[in-house]
Amino acid sequence: MLKDKHIVLGVTGSIAAYKAAELASRLAQEGALVEVIMTRSAQEFVAPLTFQTLTQRPVITEMFQLLSEMNIAHVALAQRADLVLIAPATANTIAKLAHGLADDMLSATVLATRAPVLIAPAMETNMYENPVTQANLASLVARGMMVVEPEVGHLASGRHGKGRMADPAVILAMAKQALGRDGDLAGRRVVVTAGGTQEPLDPVRFVGNRSSGKMGYALALAALERGAQVTLISAPTRLSPPPGAKMEFVTTAAEMRDAVMGSIAGADALIMAAAVADYRPAEVARQKIKKGPQGLTLRLRPNPDILMEVAEYRRSTGKPSVVVGFAAETEDLAANARAKLKAKGLDLIVANDVTSSDSGFDSDTNRALIMDRLGQTSELPLLAKSELAGQVLNHVVELFRNAGFFTSK
Ligand SMILES: Cc1cc2nc3c(=O)[nH]c(=O)nc-3n(C[C@H](O)[C@H](O)[C@H](O)COP(=O)(O)O)c2cc1C
Repeated sequence: MLKDKHIVLGVTGSIAAYKAAELASRLAQEGALVEVIMTRSAQEFVAPLTFQTLTQRPVITEMFQLLSEMNIAHVALAQRADLVLIAPATANTIAKLAHGLADDMLSATVLATRAPVLIAPAMETNMYENPVTQANLASLVARGMMVVEPEVGHLASGRHGKGRMADPAVILAMAKQALGRDGDLAGRRVVVTAGGTQEPLDPVRFVGNRSSGKMGYALALAALERGAQVTLISAPTRLSPPPGAKMEFVTTAAEMRDAVMGSIAGADALIMAAAVADYRPAEVARQKIKKGPQGLTLRLRPNPDILMEVAEYRRSTGKPSVVVGFAAETEDLAANARAKLKAKGLDLIVANDVTSSDSGFDSDTNRALIMDRLGQTSELPLLAKSELAGQVLNHVVELFRNAGFFTSK
């Protein structure tokens, strides 16, 4: 999604300026046309040549330099920018932007642009927590700019605290979301579930399944990049939360049920990609179960059927407008998917055969079929989970359209 996008990367005078080199490199590798503007202070930390080499484009260091090409004048840059990203952003630059100053190329460009502006502050904890910095940031957010919060960690001053610039991978993810903020899911609230629930047996063991959470996390990320507000209800996984998602962590099916029912009131779409245990141990031992020659028989009792409860809730409230289920099957894929779609009152079901190694659990790819309420089925080829997420969301957008959601657009 970054291909051929004009991204103005503003680099200011923070010790974190060296990390902007990685950011510039990653943006360029993903096909963005990166135009770097460095403040005078930034050049004390990193040489412009670093950015020029990484982006293969001239770096702007002065407002009044004799411009060999007029197309790098501040208004030209501001106009063609698809995104202005300032990373790292000093307290000083943040203060200037908050007050509309335009005394260098970066601040003048921000003032002159209509593109989204994303700011990644980096500074010592006291500077960051100073009420004046917080008020400046709040005023930028109030005017529609996005801020990637700094992290808590080791700071260049030797102290530990909040103020370290967010990781370049997180800033990159937020840059994609800023670019997609007017996307086809803009303003829509999407709840996604992911991962495999774990049902405790004793204090150290559980009954679980092989879901990795990759499909649900890919859906959450893709929805964020298309402008949605996303709540991701996650059973245990080894994955990092998608930046920008509101996370709710759960372990058991019962907790998953509570989290889903607690979040759907305000949701436009619910996408249930989690593998929720159908059964849980009837008794949970208080102490670790000991090994014995007589073996062990487990008695299981059924878990709440979340999709059934959602269907009931929907019948009385009409919300959420779109509900998507997933079916992991080992046989009779289409027939089982159709039965589940009908039984649970779904709008859409994504079914995949989990017996092959390139599809289903823990794989980065998936071979799925998508079936809608009218029985229309698209059989998709082997796709990266991120691509399949895109296809599922295309269907969700279509369902919103049919529900009259986008009449004002
Ligand atoms: C070694 C050193 C490190 C600095 N690191 C930061 C920093 O991380 N964040 C910050 O807001 N200011 C930092 N400053 C102060 C800024 O460089 C200073 O406020 C400057 O005027 C910022 O100018 P600019 O916003 O135009 O880049 C640092 C200064 C020095 C000397």
